[in-house]
Parts: sequence; C-alpha cells; structure tokens
Amino acid sequence: MARILIVDDDEPIRLLIGQLLETRNYGCTLAANASEAREFLKEQCFELILCDINMPGESGLDFIRYTRLKYPDTAAVMVTAMNDPSIADNALQIGVYDYIIKPIEPNGVLISVANALRRRQLEMDNRAYREDLEEKVRERTTALEESEARLRAIFEAAEHVSFIMIDHTASKDRILEFSPGAELMLGYHRREVIGQSPSVLHLPGDLILPPQLEDPLREKERGFTRELTLTRKYGETLPTLFTTYPIFNGNGHITGTLIVSVDISERKKAERELQNSMERWRMALEGSIHAMALAVEMRDPYTAGHQQRVADLAGAIAEEMGLAENRIYGLRMGGVIHDIGKIAIPAEILTKPGRLTNTEFDLIKTHSKVGYDILKNIEFPWPIAQIVLQHHERMDRSGYPVGLSGEQILLEAKILGVADVVEAMASHRPYRPALGIEAALEEVSRNRGILYDGEVVDACLKLFREKHFELSSLWKA
Ligand SMILES: [Fe+2]
Repeated sequence: MARILIVDDDEPIRLLIGQLLETRNYGCTLAANASEAREFLKEQCFELILCDINMPGESGLDFIRYTRLKYPDTAAVMVTAMNDPSIADNALQIGVYDYIIKPIEPNGVLISVANALRRRQLEMDNRAYREDLEEKVRERTTALEESEARLRAIFEAAEHVSFIMIDHTASKDRILEFSPGAELMLGYHRREVIGQSPSVLHLPGDLILPPQLEDPLREKERGFTRELTLTRKYGETLPTLFTTYPIFNGNGHITGTLIVSVDISERKKAERELQNSMERWRMALEGSIHAMALAVEMRDPYTAGHQQRVADLAGAIAEEMGLAENRIYGLRMGGVIHDIGKIAIPAEILTKPGRLTNTEFDLIKTHSKVGYDILKNIEFPWPIAQIVLQHHERMDRSGYPVGLSGEQILLEAKILGVADVVEAMASHRPYRPALGIEAALEEVSRNRGILYDGEVVDACLKLFREKHFELSSLWKA
C-alpha cells in the first residue's frame, strides 16, 4: 500500500482528496500546512506528496524544494487553483512529477497519482541498477589495479627472473615490457629495447610467438617451457630456463606473449659436479668389483673370464626382457663376482681334472653362501649379495644352498643362473671338454619352467637363435 501525504490549507479539499485515494487503498495522511507536513515526514516515509501551492506560512513550492533535497525518494505532485504556466514550469524544474488544477476532477487525480507512483518506482529501479553497475565497475577496477600493482612489484623486484612482454597487436611485433631482471640476464638496457622489434634480442622465433596451440586453454595456464643456452648482448652465453605464456584476447586470438626466464647456470654447474662425482664413484665401484673378481680367477685359471662372460650374457638376457637400465647394471655387477665364494675353496679341488667326489662337490656348493657372507655387509645400491646367494637356486626347489621355490628367487638370480649354466656348458672345464653352445641351449630348453624360469630361457634362446648373440670369442667353446 503506497503512503501519500496530502498538504492543503483548504480542509474540504484535503478531506476530499484523502477519501478519494483511500477508496483505491492508498494510505493517506493529511496536513494543513508545510510545518505540519514536515513533522509527519520526520515520523514516517511517504511514497508521494500531494501539495497545494498557496498556503499560509511556507509556500508549497518551497516545501517541495525542501523535500526533494531531504527525501529524494518521495515523489511530489502539486495541487493548485492557479492555472499559471510559469508556476507549472517552476514546479517541474524542482522535480515535481505533475500538476493538478482545482477544482478537483477525481479521475484526473487518480491517474496523476498512479502515474507519479509508477514513474517514481521506475526511477528508483533505474537508479539502483546504475548504482549497482557503478559499484561493480569500481570493484573490478580496484581488483585490476591491485593485481597490476602486485604484478608490477614482482616484475620490478625479481632480479633473478627476467620478464619480457611482447605486443603482437600492432602491424609489427614490439617489446612492451623489459624487467630489471631481463636487463641483468640479457645485458640490454630497457631504453634500448622498449618499442623495438623482439628480433633485437636474438631469441628463437617460437619463444616470441608460440607455435599453433593444440589446446589453447591448457597452454594458457602452463606455457611452453624449455632450456636454452642464451646469447647475451656481448656474446657471452648463459644456460636459462624459458617459459613462454601466450596472452589471449576475448576471441581466443594471441595478442601478446609473456616470456619468463630464469638463470640456471648454478643448477647446471651442480648437475655437472654431481654427474662427475657419480661417474668417479661408479668407476671406483666397478674397479673394486673387478679386483674381487680377479682375486678368485687368479686361483682358478679354468674359470678365468667365466664371471665376465656370465655377466655379459645375463645383461643381454635382462635387456631382452626389458629390465630397467639401473637393474641391469646391478645384475652385471653381481655377474662379475658371482663366484667370489670360490676363493674359500682349495685350488686343487677347483682345478681337479676328472670327477669330483661327493664331499668335494659339497664343498664347492658352499661358494654361493660364502660369496654372500663376503658381500652382505657392503652397501651396494643393488641386491648383489642376494643375487650371488641365489644363483644356484632352481625353480623346482632342487637348487642350493636353501632350495628356494621359483617365486622366492630374485629375477636377477634366475637370469644369472641360466647365463651361468649356458656359459659353463659351452666352455672347457678341467674335468671335461667344452660341450658346446647347442648342448647348453638344449639343456636350458629341456628344463624350461622346471629348473629355469620360462621367460628367462625364452629370452636366452632368442638371443642366440634370432639375434646371433655370441659369448666373447676369446672364450668361445
Ligand atoms: Fe656358481
């Protein structure tokens, strides 16, 4: 229900308008003059004031001028006996919506009141919409200014990071921003490059304008990163990590490029040092392992070279089976010293021609456990002691020293076991001549899945039969 304040010194008119409007469910308050009306306005809100012009005391126009300032959401319609166009002009200028001439014509009053209320509502909605819009623009502007200030701070402060912004919107690409970090890294002064073509920096073309994007949205977040040896202004080079971020406009077109680069010379130096020390460590490790291998082979010339050849074959089988490089390397190291336990067996037994007695054979069988005991306290990065311990274990538990089953034996030990048998049969031994590679392959295929792991045997057969693998020719059977 709209509340209407009726101000008129003429009581019959006041009452008449009040009654007329109440029949249309408007809530009416009646005031005999401006000062009474001011009191009502202090107590409650009105949507509309119907106000006489000529009243004793404050005139209607002065009163409405006051209400337009103090209560801008309250609309006003003037009611007067004077049909004077200049008064109407004055009234409209101060923001009055309409002008009703006495004597009162009821329909005219009702239409005028309804129009004034509708217009007031439209103006209020319009103002609210405009204020809301202005507030949103203010918020966005503030957020943009803040983020720009943050970016600017990063841009200026990061000396170890270089930021270069390229603008692609003009007819020729040009450098838009060049941070202090970029000055240090590339050796150019900002003054020399801002506004210039990016070609002055001698950077690769695809850093300046990224290649066609497969998935622009994802690329937008990730950027393109790559390492690059940068040539500075005076020719010195610098290892750097470059990331290029394409900048898109609302239509998905690239309008700019932000190139962020970091000096990685310290990291590269550390990587080189680490690489060198790894290499030295690896050579020292290999040297020690070969020294151990030599110690056993010097006492047993018949098996000299056996360990190296077994290591080579085991490594080739592992490669054929697709094992990881590091695992293959560990297996080779294990192969090179797999018989180190024989150091504890009397040389006359190792070199004895003819058949061994059961006791002698039992003694030989201790070599895998002895080898394990020698190696178990050395911290290799691979399970070398376990590989050596298990290299005579067999799938059907018939091996030694423990009699492990197939799934209990390390894959490396299974590979080494097959390589050991093949090499040993193919080579000469003090107690028998060489049996030949064919006999060796026949042995492992016959016992495929029984004594020897099926996949290992398959890989071994493939090596010899299809890939023409040969045991080192010096030791060939
Ligand atoms: Fe052995």
